[in-house]
Amino acid sequence: MAEHIYPVILALFMSYLLCALAYKDSEYTVQRANEYIEENKYSVDKTYRPHYHLKAPIGWINDPNGFIQYQGEYHLFYQYNPYSTTANKIHWGHAKSKDLYHWEDLPVAMAPDHDYDSDGVFSGTTIEKDGKLYAMYTGNSPNGQVQCIAVSEDGITFDKIAENPVLKASDLPSNAQPQDFRDPKVFKKDDIYYVATVSKTINNTGQVLLYQSSDLIQWQFKSILLEGTEEQGIMWECPDLFELDGKDVLIISSIQMPAVGDDYRNTDTVLAFIGEIDWTSGEFHVESVKEIDHGLDFYASQSLLDDKGRRISVSWMNMWGRSYPTADLNQGWVGAMTLPREFHIENGYLVQKPISEIAVAYVYAAILHNVTLTDKTTVISGVAGETGQLEVIVDLSAANSFTIEIRAAKNEKTVLRYDVLTQELSLDRSQTGVNITGSENPPLFARQVKVPLGDNNLLSLQIFVDKSSVEVFANGGVETLTTTIYPTEELAQGIQFVAEGEAIIQNLTYCHIDLTI
Ligand SMILES: *[C@@H]1O[C@H](CO)[C@@H](O)[C@H](O)[C@H]1NC(C)=O
Ligand SMILES: *[C@@H]1O[C@H](CO)[C@@H](O)[C@H](O)[C@H]1NC(C)=O
Ligand SMILES: *[C@@H]1O[C@H](CO)[C@@H](O)[C@H](O)[C@H]1NC(C)=O
Ligand SMILES: *[C@@H]1O[C@H](CO)[C@@H](O)[C@H](O)[C@H]1NC(C)=O
Repeated sequence: MAEHIYPVILALFMSYLLCALAYKDSEYTVQRANEYIEENKYSVDKTYRPHYHLKAPIGWINDPNGFIQYQGEYHLFYQYNPYSTTANKIHWGHAKSKDLYHWEDLPVAMAPDHDYDSDGVFSGTTIEKDGKLYAMYTGNSPNGQVQCIAVSEDGITFDKIAENPVLKASDLPSNAQPQDFRDPKVFKKDDIYYVATVSKTINNTGQVLLYQSSDLIQWQFKSILLEGTEEQGIMWECPDLFELDGKDVLIISSIQMPAVGDDYRNTDTVLAFIGEIDWTSGEFHVESVKEIDHGLDFYASQSLLDDKGRRISVSWMNMWGRSYPTADLNQGWVGAMTLPREFHIENGYLVQKPISEIAVAYVYAAILHNVTLTDKTTVISGVAGETGQLEVIVDLSAANSFTIEIRAAKNEKTVLRYDVLTQELSLDRSQTGVNITGSENPPLFARQVKVPLGDNNLLSLQIFVDKSSVEVFANGGVETLTTTIYPTEELAQGIQFVAEGEAIIQNLTYCHIDLTI
C-alpha cells in the first residue's frame, strides 16, 4: 500500500505547491505575462478575429486605457488578462499605431504585482510630463480601490512610484462609499493637473470627483463635478472629460441604468453630458445628456486630443454580463476595441465620425448611383464580404422601409432596417448565428434608435463590418449602433437590400479594407 500512497501524497503535495506558486500574487509579473503571450499567441482561433480593429494577441480585454499620442504615435493600453478569457487578474495590455487602424502589439505595460493592485491594475489614463509618460490607474486589491501612478521613460516599460497610492479612501468626500473609487482621467488645464475619478455615493448613485495637483503625486480634493440621479445608474465608471467645439463634455459609463424607450437597453450605458464647467466651484452645468451608441456592444469610452486637434475616442466593443462566444468556443480570446471615432458637437449633441485615415485602406469594389429598389431582395455585384465598408445615401420619399442584410447566407443574416413611419433604425442579430445571452430583459437581440430623415427624405448610412462586428454611423454620425455578431455559416458574406415601397439609392460605395496598402 505504502509505496502506492506515498507517490500519490507526494504528487498532491507537489501540485498544491505548484498551485500555491501559480496563484501567489507576485507571480503576476510583466515578464511572465510577456513570455506567456509569446509562447501561446499562435494558438488563438482566427475565425472571428477582427481584421482592422484593435484586439489583444491572446486572452481577455475590456476597457481602453491610457489613450494618448506620444512621440508621434498613438498608444492605446487596455484592461487585459492574457492567461484566460475571463476578466481576472487584470494587467495593462499595450498597442501602438501611426494611423489608428494598423496596430502593433507592444509588451504588457503593467501587471498586478504590488499589494495595492494585487487584484488588478484597473482602468486609467496617461499624460506626458517632462517627456515621460505618466499612467494614473486604479489599484484594485482586497483592501479596496486606490489611485496610483506609474512612470515610463520610453512609453513601453513602467515603474510604479514609491509614493503609491496617491489617492485613497480617506481622500473621498463624505457622501462616498469607499469600496468603489476608480478610473482616474488625468489632464492639465492652465498649468494645473486635474484628475476626474468616479465613486459611488451613499445613495447608490454615480458621481464624478475632481482633484488637483501641481506634480501629479500630491493631490487635493477640489469638488464633486457631477452627481448622478437615481435614474442614471447605481455607479459610474470611466469618466472622460474634455473641451470640444466650445463646450465641456463629460462622458461616463453607467452601471445598470434603467431602460427608457429605446435608450439604456444594455446592462450598462455610455452617456455624454454636454455643458459648461464652472472652474471656480468645480461644478458641471449640464445642458444635454444622451446615450452615445445604441448598439448592443459599446462601453468604457476614452479619448485623446491629437496633434491635428482632433478629439478621437475608442470604446470597448463588448458589454458586461453577456455570454462571449469566442470564450465558449475555446478560441482563446475575447474582446476588441471600436474603430476610433472623431467627436464633434452639432446642434448641441455629440456626433461621431470614423477616423478619416481608414479611407486610405479602401479598395473600391462597387460604386453605383440611382439604384431603384422595389419590394424584392436585391443583390448588387461586388457588394459582399466579411470585412468592409458600405456607404449608402438613399431617398426614402416613396418607401415604407429600407433594409440592408449583412453577413447574409442561406439561414443567417444581420438585419439593419429603417422604418420610415417611426423613423427608427434597428440593428438585429437574432438571425446572425451564435446567440449571445445576457442579463438584460428582452429585447436582447436588437437595438433601435430614432434617426430623423435628412433633407429630401434622405438617409445616409456608413457601415463597417469586421468579421465579428458591425458599426453603423447614421446621417453623418448623429447616431451610431455598434454590435458584435458571430455568423456560423460558411461564406456568410452576402449583403442584400430590401425595400417596402420604392427606395432609390442615390449613392452606394462598397470597399474592402486592405491593410497592406
Ligand atoms: C440622498 O438622496 C436624498 C433623497 O433623494 C437626498 O436628499 C440627499 O441629499 C442625498 N444624499 C447625498 C449625500 O447625496
Ligand atoms: C441620379 O438621378 C438624379 C435624378 O434623376 C439625377 O439628377 C442625377 O444626375 C443622377 N445621378 C447620377 C450620378 O447618375
Ligand atoms: C437565437 O435566438 C432566436 C430568438 O430567440 C431564435 O429564433 C434562434 O433560433 C436562436 N438561434 C440559435 C442558433 O440558437
Ligand atoms: C454622390 O455621388 C455623386 C457622384 O459621384 C457625388 O458627386 C456626390 O458628392 C455624392 N454625394 C454624397 C453625399 O456623397
